[in-house]
Amino acid sequence: MRVLVTYGSKRGGTAGIAERIARTLVERGFQADARPSSEVESVDAYDAVVVGGALYSSRWHRAARRFIKHHSEALRTRPVWLFSSGPLDDSAAGGDIPPVEQVQRLMERIGARGHITFGGRLLPDAKGFIASKMARHRAGDWRDPRLIQAWAEGLADALRSVEAGARPGGAPEVTAGLH
Ligand SMILES: Cc1cc2nc3c(=O)[nH]c(=O)nc-3n(C[C@H](O)[C@H](O)[C@H](O)COP(=O)(O)O)c2cc1C
Repeated sequence: MRVLVTYGSKRGGTAGIAERIARTLVERGFQADARPSSEVESVDAYDAVVVGGALYSSRWHRAARRFIKHHSEALRTRPVWLFSSGPLDDSAAGGDIPPVEQVQRLMERIGARGHITFGGRLLPDAKGFIASKMARHRAGDWRDPRLIQAWAEGLADALRSVEAGARPGGAPEVTAGLH
C-alpha cells in the first residue's frame, strides 16, 4: 500500500510531523512519501492519503486547503486522515482538540476518516512581524514525538484493516505457514 503524507507548512514544524508519520509507516511496512502539498500534482499513485496543515489564525495553511479542494474527487474515493499542528502549549497533549471549523468542513467534503491536532513549534528567531512578536513569549517546540508516533501506529493498523477489506471476500490474508 502506498501512502501520501502531504502538508502545508510555513516554518517547517508541520513538515517535521509529516516526515515522522511517513517514517513510522515505512517502519511498519508501507510505502510512504512526505511531500509539500504545493508540489503534489496527482494522488493517482497512492492508495491512502494523510493531509496536515499548520494553523494560522484558526485557519489551515493555504497549500493544505488548496490540496483538498483541488483533489477532492480523488480523495473521496480513498481513505484520508487529517492532522493540524498549532498549539504552542501542552493543550494538544491529550490528542483530543477538535479540528477548527474550516478543517471540519474540509473533512466533510472528502469524507475523511479522522483528525488529530498536534502541538506546534515556533522558533525564537521566527521571521515575520506577528510571528517574531509572538516568539518573544511563546517560542518552543510542542510537537510530541510520542503522540505523533502513537497516532501513526494507529494509522498503520487502520490501513491494514483497509487493506484486508479491499481483498476479494474482505477476509484478512491467511499467512502461509499457519496451516
Ligand atoms: C502568526 C501566527 C498565528 C498562529 N495562529 C495559531 C492558531 O490560530 N492556532 C494554533 O493552534 N496555533 C497557531 N499558531 C502556531 C502555529 O500553528 C505553530 O507555530 C505551527 O507549528 C506552525 O507550523 P509551521 O512551522 O509548519 O508553519 C500561530 C503561529 C503564528 C506565528
